[in-house]
Amino acid sequence: MKLFPQLTLLFVWLCSVIATNSGDALFRGCSAWVAKYKFECPSKYAKAKGGRVTACNCWSPEFIATYVDCATRAKGANTKYGLQSLLGACGTKTIRPDLTLDEINQIYQNATDYFVDVKSIKNKTETSYYPIKFTQAQVDQAQRSFAAGFYAKYTGQLYGGLLLAYFGAILLAASISNLLKKVAPGFVHKSTNNKVALFFRRKLINPALFGNKHSVPVKWGPFNMSLPTRAQFWVLAVYFGMYIIFIFIKYDIYDGNTRFATRALQISRYVGDRAAIMALAQLPLVFTFAGRNNILIFITGLSYDTMNLYHRWVSRVMYMNIFIHAVCFSINYRKQGKYFSELSESDIVWGISACVCGGFTMFFSLRHFREKIYEIFLLSHWAFVIFFTVGAWYHVKSHGYMEWIYTAIAIWAFDRLGRLVRIAVNGVNAKAHLELHPQHLIKIKVDYNSFWNPHAGAYAFIHFLNPLWRSWENHPFTMYPSPTPGEEKKLVFCARVRNGKTKQLQNYLAANSNAKTVPVFIDGPYGNTAPLQTSDTIVIITGGIGFTGGYSYACKLTHQAEKKNITFIWAIQNHENVETFRDELEYLYKNDVNVFIYLSNEPNGLQRKITVEKHNSDPENLNEKDFSSGSTISFNTMFARPDLKVIIESAITEAPGSIGFLVCGPGSMNDDVRRNVSNNMGRGKGRVDLYIEAFNW
Ligand SMILES: Cc1cc2nc3c(=O)[nH]c(=O)nc-3n(C[C@H](O)[C@H](O)[C@H](O)COP(=O)(O)OP(=O)(O)OC[C@H]3O[C@@H](n4cnc5c(N)ncnc54)[C@H](O)[C@@H]3O)c2cc1C
Ligand SMILES: NC(=O)c1ccc[n+]([C@@H]2O[C@H](COP(=O)([O-])OP(=O)(O)OC[C@H]3O[C@@H](n4cnc5c(N)ncnc54)[C@H](OP(=O)(O)O)[C@@H]3O)[C@@H](O)[C@H]2O)c1
Ligand SMILES: *[C@@H]1O[C@H](CO)[C@@H](O)[C@H](O)[C@H]1NC(C)=O
Ligand SMILES: *[C@@H]1O[C@H](CO)[C@@H](O)[C@H](O)[C@H]1NC(C)=O
Ligand SMILES: *[C@@H]1O[C@H](CO)[C@@H](O)[C@H](O)[C@H]1NC(C)=O
Ligand SMILES: *[C@@H]1O[C@H](CO)[C@@H](O)[C@H](O)[C@H]1NC(C)=O
Repeated sequence: MKLFPQLTLLFVWLCSVIATNSGDALFRGCSAWVAKYKFECPSKYAKAKGGRVTACNCWSPEFIATYVDCATRAKGANTKYGLQSLLGACGTKTIRPDLTLDEINQIYQNATDYFVDVKSIKNKTETSYYPIKFTQAQVDQAQRSFAAGFYAKYTGQLYGGLLLAYFGAILLAASISNLLKKVAPGFVHKSTNNKVALFFRRKLINPALFGNKHSVPVKWGPFNMSLPTRAQFWVLAVYFGMYIIFIFIKYDIYDGNTRFATRALQISRYVGDRAAIMALAQLPLVFTFAGRNNILIFITGLSYDTMNLYHRWVSRVMYMNIFIHAVCFSINYRKQGKYFSELSESDIVWGISACVCGGFTMFFSLRHFREKIYEIFLLSHWAFVIFFTVGAWYHVKSHGYMEWIYTAIAIWAFDRLGRLVRIAVNGVNAKAHLELHPQHLIKIKVDYNSFWNPHAGAYAFIHFLNPLWRSWENHPFTMYPSPTPGEEKKLVFCARVRNGKTKQLQNYLAANSNAKTVPVFIDGPYGNTAPLQTSDTIVIITGGIGFTGGYSYACKLTHQAEKKNITFIWAIQNHENVETFRDELEYLYKNDVNVFIYLSNEPNGLQRKITVEKHNSDPENLNEKDFSSGSTISFNTMFARPDLKVIIESAITEAPGSIGFLVCGPGSMNDDVRRNVSNNMGRGKGRVDLYIEAFNW
């Protein structure tokens, strides 16, 4: 059931490539060419309207004979199909309902003796009373001129689909690697612990694209963007390279085209068509990558973060196509002198609206807006994407290709449905206990039905229903099971107050003696678990509120049968938040995790070792540690920022076997760890792995 949208995508593509109809070029070419000449026409039909063939010509034996001659002789002609198409156009109720194929053939047979050579026609607009025999070159051109146009559309489908297939291949490779890491971690570790693999991982896969920056955005004036990692860059670079090739190759442009007299007209039309169809083919992909309930995240093990990056870049390529389409058609219509008449066609108006809305979507999605005014970005994204999709729908409706839009909408609907189902399953009457802690932290404890357990790295989107204003907002927070004795059936979240919804909650709590129970909707769990447990030594590096992410892994690892050497490093500004996470720290301590606390901004004079009071120990369950120390636990405490360079270097060189790093912290911390680990990848005794829980979408 969950695979449904993605499978439909494949199916849609196969069908639409197969169904793209190029057989009509003969009919369209010959009928358009022959209609450039004038034939005798029964006066009662002179004013009647027809479709591709005018009513009048359908009643002219000279026209029909001339057409059949053209359709029989054109190069690469499927005459039978061409005659069938003529019958389809003329044999309609309003034009000539009793026309048959036999009759068409008879008309042609009867006319064979009367054909005149095209050279004898001096004035095209003068009525010809005889069927006309064109030169071989003319009939071939007539056919080819339309075939070239159909080919541009066909290749649009084909190339658009190949771009999809490319992402399909990437995702398949990711899935296989994900599966191998899960079922045969030992094999993966061995087979990738050699010089070649190491070179790839050190130089081409793990680092940020240039220098240091991935989580921390690069800035140009008011613009800033986060650069992809090198692996992400390669995926996108090949995609973009394929796209550039596809938009440029394989057009049939030539002088003497019977449909578009100049090369400029041909190029603008063909490129415009192909760009439009390629854009449509990317639409389902754009929607897939945007979704929360995206089965691909689960199968491939790629993070939402990565999917979101692809969402943004594929959208940009799609919009570039739409833009090219719009410019090409403007040029084409302009040169044909029908620019303004086309502007009054409703499908053109829809198309222009969609293009403009798409432009706004692109503009408001700039990182600047996502960072500064996230909720406004989100609302504008919604509004413009809806207008865009409706515009695209009516623009495309009369041209076919609707299957792409249907699929995209199905994928969207599936995601929305998934969210509702999750909220319903987690209980529409869920309650959260909120507590305001020092340094702008809000601790959130939720009673839930406990039929799933949060996995390491799991997060959920929370709707806070009280205060009611802004309750439609939902923000992602990392969760883990409560370490507090007696509260095991609760989910714990902890939020650092920012400027939006979290600020509102802070004010609300401050007005309610710092604690309050409010109704919530929990949309989760989401998120993949990085295969951290496959390494022998594990180093978890967290900064600030990133504690939550690191803790959820540490907690999971301590539950495993095979005990690992786990180091947990936590950088935090001052000691006040240690109390916030007292139970968590105690849990880590009891489970033999080596905890190091770095206080980066502790006021002078307060320099003392961090200790936390222990819970009253359960007398039945005393272990050695409880005897050996008093009623408090003391932690390794440093009064500085962690020197990540030294920590990482020594951890890698000292580790007896493989070592895995997990980092969850502010952007600059993530980037420093990424760079230092990448640099030192070759210096360990075993494989070195790096996992980053960074949330910069
Ligand atoms: C997977 C994941 C797990 C997270 N876990 C935690 C956690 O355990 N504890 C914690 O304190 N924070 C966590 N965050 C960050 C947290 O979601 C944001 O700080 C929160 O949404 C800010 O809300 P606000 O309205 O106060 O934000 P604003 O002040 O409006 O914005 C602050 C920043 O948060 C980002 N942001 C705002 N809303 C969202 C949203 N719905 N989705 C993604 N980003 C958003 C904005 O881009 C902006 O950069 C996590 C983020 C992600 C993506
Ligand atoms: N994984 C998750 O689930 C998760 C959960 C919550 C939040 N987050 C993310 O984590 C970040 C934490 O926010 P915060 O406000 O709590 O952090 P913060 O207070 O800015 O930083 C926390 C600590 O990390 C130190 N630090 C920062 N960069 C460092 C670096 N490059 N090297 C060494 N130490 C460094 C800081 O030292 P200084 O004081 O000297 O700067 C500080 O002690 C947010 O961006 C949030 O989005 C992730
Ligand atoms: C073709 O010619 C024959 C003999 O002249 C005539 O009987 C017949 O009606 C003609 N058929 C058509 C379709 O004009
Ligand atoms: C061609 O024929 C039309 C109609 O008979 C006439 O109006 C026109 O002047 C002719 N053109 C030339 C170039 O002879
Ligand atoms: C390693 O991390 C430190 C921060 O501790 C950073 O200043 C430095 O640039 C990093 N080193 C490399 C080689 O990236
Ligand atoms: C665990 O690893 C740390 C650093 O990686 C090392 O200092 C420590 O001695 C190790 N402990 C054990 C028991 O192996």
